Amino acid sequence: MSISIGIDVGTSGTKALAINPAGKILAEASAGYPCHHPKPLWSEQDPEDWWQATVKVVRAVVKKAKLKSSDVAAIGLSGQMHGSVFLDKNNKVVRPALLWNDQRTEAECAEIEKRVGGRKKLIKMVANPALTGFTAPKILWLRNKEPRNFAKTVKVLLPKDEIRRRLTGEFATEVSDASGTLLLDVVKRKWSKPLLSKLDLDADLLPKCYESEEVTGTLTRDVAQKLGLSTDCVVVGGAGDCAAGAIGNGIVKKGLLNTSLGTSGVVFAHSDEPQYDPQGRLHTFCHAVRGKWHMMGVTLTAAGALQWFHNEIITAGGIAGRKEKSAYRQITEEAAKVPAGSEGLQFLPYLAGERTPHLDPNARGALIGITLKHTRGHVTRAIMEGVTMALRDSYAIMQDLGVPVRQIRASGGGAKNPFWRQMQADVFGKPVTAMVADEGAAYGVALLAAVGAGDFKNIEEACKATIKTADQVKPDTKARKVYDRAFPVFQDLYAALREEFPKLEG
Ligand code: XUL
Repeated sequence: MSISIGIDVGTSGTKALAINPAGKILAEASAGYPCHHPKPLWSEQDPEDWWQATVKVVRAVVKKAKLKSSDVAAIGLSGQMHGSVFLDKNNKVVRPALLWNDQRTEAECAEIEKRVGGRKKLIKMVANPALTGFTAPKILWLRNKEPRNFAKTVKVLLPKDEIRRRLTGEFATEVSDASGTLLLDVVKRKWSKPLLSKLDLDADLLPKCYESEEVTGTLTRDVAQKLGLSTDCVVVGGAGDCAAGAIGNGIVKKGLLNTSLGTSGVVFAHSDEPQYDPQGRLHTFCHAVRGKWHMMGVTLTAAGALQWFHNEIITAGGIAGRKEKSAYRQITEEAAKVPAGSEGLQFLPYLAGERTPHLDPNARGALIGITLKHTRGHVTRAIMEGVTMALRDSYAIMQDLGVPVRQIRASGGGAKNPFWRQMQADVFGKPVTAMVADEGAAYGVALLAAVGAGDFKNIEEACKATIKTADQVKPDTKARKVYDRAFPVFQDLYAALREEFPKLEG
């Protein structure tokens, strides 16, 4: 039997699943861990937590699917993008990893643009501007703010690639995740030597870069034993979670667009050539499909905003005394009873600053227009609407740039809720298609592993054989009109508050 395992090292937890050569899921498991915020707008995690969770979920999958060690031919890795794992010469982490939604590197972004002679030149070199969440500014932050830790650092790895190191002993990455470091020449799909030299960074800090379905190593003896797998099991490049999730939804052809409502929100369009937003609001990254690219807009807090509301306001300290699932169900059911537009209540979802379209690390969340009439249902609905309008911001830029869109596919935890899927159709004013099995990034990299193991000729063939679309929801005419009026107000509210956010203390 040729079984493939996909592992996704996410922000709230790690998920693993095993598929057979027909793409059928045999077993899945997940395990959570905390995210630390030592200061407002800072985000860190301990890479050891990712590793412990990985061991736990892979062992659980092997057990649940009753796999023999020789059954599993290949593993694919996916993970939260941009995070920085700083390793010393003994492969010990020198400090906790800075994550994709950490905003501490504003000064280093300015430094990068200055060193290369401006944003336009940088976009020419690596297809993207310097954004606070990206990896290169994090490396410069370590050099500027923690020089002793920087002096100890000999390698910088992305989250899933740290897991690869622990699985195989190899220092490797692949093009889709490497694009988000800001150090990859995205057009040539190679590390950018000119940029590394302008930033005065040693190329040896970076791992070897592969295409996504290429084999990067095999399991070490100790790890194979620990996981119940074989040392013949190969680990393929895999993909950053956005590209992996897109593959898991079959976004491997021009005209297909994916929206994802996870901790972050992503609007992802496949593209046959590298295509740019001259203002750098959308990212241009390598796709996990060989020789293809993608454009994407990222909203830093999407379903994460609803999770914050649920955890910190609704169930904090167990006040509501309910099980997590039923509290979510209750608040979203209340939201569904509130009219579209939440009777004038608007929510800016910038709880961790914002990337697309504002590129503003100082942006903050805001609930605007509250009256005595508004209920908990209104607040929940306003949060969901604000997040969806933030996705529309990305979609609108793609429309302005003429990115072809034949079909929008909804994915991510948020899209599992039919109410939030309908809201997307209403806010975008376009039909939105659901997937038969929305297994996300772990499924996408399990397919890449199957390609690496030789079960399919390429990833396009793997997607064609395994991924099916389900029903399509059409926009409701009345709700669509309400959102068309609310959207410019949403945009104006940010513009009105932009100057005020940096004045807030703390
Ligand atoms: C993408 C991004 C996020 C993380 C979340 O650019 O920063 O979507 O990958 O996991």
